[in-house]
Amino acid sequence: MLISLTFMLLMWVCIDSPYRLGGVQVDVSSKTLTSRQIGLGTFPFSNVFSPVSQSDALEIAKTFIDGGGRYIETAPIYPRTVDLGAILRQFPRDSFFVGTKCVLHVDSNGETVSSGTPESLRSQCISEISRLGLDYLDLLQTHVTPTDVSPNVAASALAELKSEGLVRYIGVSNTTASDLRSYLQGAKIDFVQNRYSVIYRAPTDAVTEICRENNIRLNPYQVIERGQLINRNPNAGQWRDGDLRNNKAEYIGDAFDRVHRWAIDELARIADNSGMTLEELCIRWVFSSPQSTLPVVGATKVWQVENNMAFSTEPLSVDILDAMNSAYSYFAKEIRQHFGVSLEEFRGLA
Ligand SMILES: NC(=O)c1ccc[n+]([C@@H]2O[C@H](COP(=O)([O-])OP(=O)(O)OC[C@H]3O[C@@H](n4cnc5c(N)ncnc54)[C@H](OP(=O)(O)O)[C@@H]3O)[C@@H](O)[C@H]2O)c1
Repeated sequence: MLISLTFMLLMWVCIDSPYRLGGVQVDVSSKTLTSRQIGLGTFPFSNVFSPVSQSDALEIAKTFIDGGGRYIETAPIYPRTVDLGAILRQFPRDSFFVGTKCVLHVDSNGETVSSGTPESLRSQCISEISRLGLDYLDLLQTHVTPTDVSPNVAASALAELKSEGLVRYIGVSNTTASDLRSYLQGAKIDFVQNRYSVIYRAPTDAVTEICRENNIRLNPYQVIERGQLINRNPNAGQWRDGDLRNNKAEYIGDAFDRVHRWAIDELARIADNSGMTLEELCIRWVFSSPQSTLPVVGATKVWQVENNMAFSTEPLSVDILDAMNSAYSYFAKEIRQHFGVSLEEFRGLA
């Protein structure tokens, strides 16, 4: 079971001048990780979607960093088909903010195991520092809630690593409201990372208020649903052999097609009427949620990074949000009427 899970700030950097990306002028003056910005997820560097070579990954990272991006995210259990440490070494240490994960990790036999004990978290932290060739990590977050200790024990162990300077910020991922409350009994938490998109809201909606009360920033993942919301390629949904999306209910058959068509038709219409690209609409929808300041988006091609960064990170206007939320409610209702299940059940997520 655990083996199958294998698939399963910073220098407060300030840039003095605006940069141009994808033809759009973006003001990054006073850009720090406290400002809203997009992170680069490196799960796709593991050849789990479209193929990515070491040189492709380097170009993608370079485009991201040159374009003003800072937050690069990884995890010890991502298959290591690309050497991320070698890529990071190409850039000054203060030009990126690297986040990685713990609890799920790879043991000395190469197997994915899970532990949140203080001893194990310390050893996992040191192992990630070494894997990435760094002196410290910017962010270390639990990948899942540990099952061998209570969340507050894991949180205080992470806080100790932070107090020693091995990590600068600590976070938790895939958390429920009750687990988050328990983590908070152990330590102040800086980041929460749950899955969150215009079509998949519940896990983050359940914790947003706690994050607001405790000044925790959200760095949500899968905000473009692995391309499902924005991929206009006529072959979208016909994944190559070896693409992980072939094994996920929401990315195959009717579950993929209906959501994809809804996005490409309905969301694209709202985007067009608002003078935006579909990427902008979907990603800015995430930025529009309180605390959601650092969505992480993966890429397998340079043009994707350019498209995904080429716009303002300001929250959307109330009118646009209303239009998107109406389109979502109408679509969810249609699915229930047609299939007799909730949208999440229809997608195989409930
Ligand atoms: N904490 C957790 O449990 C957890 C779980 C999952 C992910 N994450 C993190 O979140 C990051 C983001 O998630 P993700 O990478 O799985 O999925 P994602 O960001 O939703 O989707 C990334 C994929 O979408 C496609 N794509 C990207 N930009 C596109 C564009 N402009 N147009 C069309 N397609 C585009 C690319 O795949 P193709 O080119 O192959 O179509 C890309 O690999 C991960 O990399 C990881 O760092 C964390």
